[in-house]
Amino acid sequence: MLRRKVTRRELLATASAVAAVPSTARRTYAGISPGSAAIPAILGGQPVRTAKFPRWPLVREADEKAVLPVVRSGIWSRDKIVDEAEIQFARLMGAKYCLATCNGTNAIITAVRSIGIAAGDEVVTTPYTFVASVLPILLANALPVFADVDPETWQIDPAKIAGKINGNTAAILPVHIIGGICDMDRINALASKHKLKVIEDACEAHGGEWRNKKVGTLGDLGCFSFQNGKALTCGEGGAVLGNDRALMDRCYSFHNMGRPYGSIVARNKEGHVMVATKCRMAEYQASILITQMENFNAECARRSENAAYLTEKLKQIPGVVPRKNYPQVTRTAFYYYGFRYKKEQFDGLSRAKFIKALAAEGVRASHGLGVIEGKPINKEGCVEDALGSKAYQRIYPQAKLAAYAAENECPESDRLVQETVGFHQSMLLGPRQDMDDICAAVTKIYENRSKLAASM
Ligand SMILES: Cc1ncc(COP(=O)(O)O)c(C=O)c1O
Repeated sequence: MLRRKVTRRELLATASAVAAVPSTARRTYAGISPGSAAIPAILGGQPVRTAKFPRWPLVREADEKAVLPVVRSGIWSRDKIVDEAEIQFARLMGAKYCLATCNGTNAIITAVRSIGIAAGDEVVTTPYTFVASVLPILLANALPVFADVDPETWQIDPAKIAGKINGNTAAILPVHIIGGICDMDRINALASKHKLKVIEDACEAHGGEWRNKKVGTLGDLGCFSFQNGKALTCGEGGAVLGNDRALMDRCYSFHNMGRPYGSIVARNKEGHVMVATKCRMAEYQASILITQMENFNAECARRSENAAYLTEKLKQIPGVVPRKNYPQVTRTAFYYYGFRYKKEQFDGLSRAKFIKALAAEGVRASHGLGVIEGKPINKEGCVEDALGSKAYQRIYPQAKLAAYAAENECPESDRLVQETVGFHQSMLLGPRQDMDDICAAVTKIYENRSKLAASM
């Protein structure tokens, strides 16, 4: 537990200061009063809750029953169960075709390479994402070009994308992030106007819908992750969705060492048709994915319902600004739920201290995204490393590389990276009381903000 030892003097001072506040003067936020007399748990008081939030993943008997025969069969490498998982995931998402991969990063690598992105190409994407959205672009020796985010929805801003498109632009790679969905109407309109491909990174957005259509089916290809923490998981895993048979055949061939597949035929009988990799899903992963899919829609609905309730409550607390959705979003989907934390309204209490105080109340939060604190992806070491590499120095004009950092400044994303507080999706899976507890904990910290800012 992240608790600093509190001296007896501090404790008495805190208790008497709080006792001096008449209870009628106490405000409630979000309709919930934790009782401002309550001493923050980090200063030695009682936590708002000690009960655990739902554990993730939810392991059921069905998972065990499905995986055991696969283990016993000894057929562990890609076979019929992966085929079946692909059919079921495509059906669940409303796509014609699905290719399963070993993880989401390789799903994006497969999509980027199969679409033909290569050295000299530019791909417009968001700086407000996890590093795995951008690594596949760099691995192709292409140039990620960052368009800033919309400050309300936190998704890549189509107005900013427009200004980044030039003759070298090959694709747009929107990332549906922190429960939000990108403005796919405007992104697709830009793509068709400039003849660009669209690869959706839906690794955090399984089940989200834009105008009643699932994310991952709105562009040319959509990529998913089934990593342990994701809203649909089999430990590690990924998928590419698409509706174009020939393009999906390329994806299949790419993920299987360039072996011919479907319309992708070898020039000679034994030949491998392309420079490729191997990133196949294993049979036991697929068997768990299939059983996890059985509960997916119900879990997704529960998260959405709880998130909507939480947003209504949290937005009443000063200094807490939940992310908004575009009106075309017909179903939300969460890996992380997020809000902006405005430390100015918490008497300067830093975000890190706020998160620590929240943890002491029994509510675990993070700064979201899995990025190194304070580092949006456009400022990540991997981008700098690629730009300085022999390959990039040869491929791109010096003037372009020299201007890169300044041209890829994204101040809205920088601010957001500093302000995000996120809750893992599993915290949205319990009863409504859990949401009330989250609000009570945030309210308690807000009400004790000056004390916390002074003493932590
Ligand atoms: C936005 C985003 N893209 C890509 C990935 C990569 O997925 P994986 O971890 O399965 O490789 C993740 C996973 O954390 C992600 O959050």
